[in-house]
Amino acid sequence: MCGIVGYVGDKEATPILVNALKKLEYRGYDSAGIAVLSEGSLVVRKAKGALKFLEQRISTEIIRGSMGIGHTRWATHGEPSDANSHPHTDVAGKIAVVHNGIIENHAKLKSWLASHGVSFRSQTDTEVIAHLIDFHYNGDIVEAVVETLKRLEGSYALAVICESEPGRIVAVRKDSPLVVGAGTGENIIASDVPALLEYTRDVYYLQDREIAVLYRDRVDFLDGDGAPVEKELSHVEWDVAAAEKGGYEHFMLKEIHEQPKALADTLRARIRANGAKSIHLEEIGFDASWAEAGRVMITACGTAWHAGVVGKYAFERFARIPTDVDIASEYRYRSPLFNPKDIFIIISQSGETADTLAAMRMAKKGGARIIAITNVVGSTLAREADLVMYTWAGPEIAVASTKAFTTQLMCVYLIALQFGYLRKTIDGETLTRYIDALEAIPGQAERILANKGDIQRFASLSFNKTKAFFMGRLFDFAISLESALKLKEISYTHSEAFAAGELKHGPIALVDDATLVVAVCTQRALFDKMDSNIKEVKARGATVLVITYEGESFFDGTADEVFRIPPAPDEITPILSVIPSQLYAYYCSVQRGNDPDKPRNLAKSVTVE
Ligand code: F6R
Repeated sequence: MCGIVGYVGDKEATPILVNALKKLEYRGYDSAGIAVLSEGSLVVRKAKGALKFLEQRISTEIIRGSMGIGHTRWATHGEPSDANSHPHTDVAGKIAVVHNGIIENHAKLKSWLASHGVSFRSQTDTEVIAHLIDFHYNGDIVEAVVETLKRLEGSYALAVICESEPGRIVAVRKDSPLVVGAGTGENIIASDVPALLEYTRDVYYLQDREIAVLYRDRVDFLDGDGAPVEKELSHVEWDVAAAEKGGYEHFMLKEIHEQPKALADTLRARIRANGAKSIHLEEIGFDASWAEAGRVMITACGTAWHAGVVGKYAFERFARIPTDVDIASEYRYRSPLFNPKDIFIIISQSGETADTLAAMRMAKKGGARIIAITNVVGSTLAREADLVMYTWAGPEIAVASTKAFTTQLMCVYLIALQFGYLRKTIDGETLTRYIDALEAIPGQAERILANKGDIQRFASLSFNKTKAFFMGRLFDFAISLESALKLKEISYTHSEAFAAGELKHGPIALVDDATLVVAVCTQRALFDKMDSNIKEVKARGATVLVITYEGESFFDGTADEVFRIPPAPDEITPILSVIPSQLYAYYCSVQRGNDPDKPRNLAKSVTVE
C-alpha cells in the first residue's frame, strides 16, 4: 500500500504535493518523492525514510512549477532506498510515474525491456511502467498509457506526467484506490480523500480501468481503451479525521475491513492457473531443496506466534513433516537442539521484534535455514533471513494486529501446501482443491464483514462480562488463543484461551454465571466433543457464543448465540473464524469507552526485551 498524489493548476505544485502526501503517510512511510515540471524540465526529488526527510532534501531549493506528482511508499518490491523511491522515470528522464499496487508480471516485462536495451535503476516493479510508456510514446502520453495498460497484470493506481506535454496528468486505476478532486483553476488526484479535502470537497471516484486526464481547468475521463466516459461528481461530507480512517471510526475497524483485499493481494501473485492450478514461490527462492527438510521449527511472538500455531497444524497435516512451534522469548533461553536439515519459519509483522530476531540469529548460528514471513520490506528480519515471503497487508496502524495476522496465515498455508506437494504428501488434485478454497477466502471474508451487525449487537449485550474464555480444538485452539489476546488487549476483559479438552483439567473451576465462553467449532470431526464441552460450561451458568459454519445446526440447541461463517476446509477456516473475534474485541472495546487503536500499556513494535 502506498499513497499517490498529483496536482495541476495555477499555484506552486511542490508545497501542495508535500502537504497532500502528509495526509497519506498512514498508507506508507518508508520513502517519499515528487516530480515537478519546472521551467520545461522534469525535476525529480526523492528520499528514503519518512516524508520529513524529503522535506529536508528540498528545503534548500525552490522548485517552481504548477504541475507535479508525488508518492509515499510502503515497499513491496525492493527495500526502502532512494533508488527504489517513486517517482520512477524512463531512461531519458522525460516521463515520470508514481504507482500504488503490484505489477504481477513485472519480471517478464523487465526481461523483455532489458532485451530491448533498457537498463534498470531500481528493484521495483514500478520502473517497468515508466519504460513501457516510453516504448509506446509517439507524441501522445494518453495513447502511450492506454497501450501500456494492455500489458500490465496486477493492481495499480498510476499518475503519469511527461516533460513534452505540460499541463496534463494522466491517472488510472485497477484494484487500487484513486480519487480525482475537482477544484477551481486546479485539479488534484490522490489515493484517498483526506489528501484532497484542503483543496476541494467535489470528487470523482474512478472505477477499475478508468483513466482521468487532468488539466488546470477540466478533467476528461476515458475507459481503458481510450473512449470518452461520463462521470458523476460526488460531494464529500466527512471531516478530515474521519477521512484518514477511510470513513471508519478507528484504524482497527478499517484494517479489519481491509482484510479481503490484503488477503487477495497476498495470494494472487503466488498462484498460477495455466492448466492445473499451482503455487509459485520462486520469487522468494523456495525450491524443491527446501522441501527435503527433516523438521520445521516456527518461532514468533504474540499474534504472530498464533499464526505459527496454525502453521504447526498445517505443516503436519499437509506436508507430514515434524513441526514445532515456540514463543521466541522461550526458544532463545532454552537449550534447543539443531539439525542442519531444520528449516526455521520466523513470523513477524514488523520484522523488528527483539526476541524474534534473537531466536532467528540463534537458529542461523546453529546452521538452520531461515524463511521469514513479514509485512515490512527491508526490516531487520527481511534482511537477515535466507528467504523472505512478504504479507502484502500494507501498513498496520492499530496496535492490535488484524490484517497482518490473516495474511500471515495465508503465507503459512501457501508454504505448507507447497511443501506437501513437493514432498508428495498431497497430490495435484488435492492441491487444486485447497487453492480453490484459498481463492474463495477474500469473498467469504467480505460476507462475514457484511454481517458484523450481529457481532456488534452481541457485544452490546455482553461487553461488561468480567471474564471470557475461548476454547477450541486443533486449528480452533490456535484461533481461541488469538481471539482471547485480541479481547484482552483492547477491551481489558480478563480473557483466556485453552484447548477444549483441557476444560476438565482446571479451567472449569472458574466458570460461573459471570463467564462468557466463546466456543470456536469448525473442526467437523470434533463437533460432538465440543458439544459436550459447551454443555459442561452451560451447566455452570456460562453464556456461550459458538462460531461455526453456515448451514450447521449441530450447536443450535446448546449455544446462547451462534455466529456463522462461510464453509471452508477445516484447515483453512482459521483465516475466517478469527474475523468475528476481531470484531467482537473491537466492539467490546468501543462499548467500554476505550481507544481500540491505542490500548493502554502496549506498543506496536516491541524492539526491546
Ligand atoms: C497483538 C500484537 C502483538 C504482536 C507481537 C509481535 O495484537 O500485535 O502480539 O503480534 O508483538 O509483533 P511482530 O509481529 O511485529 O513481531
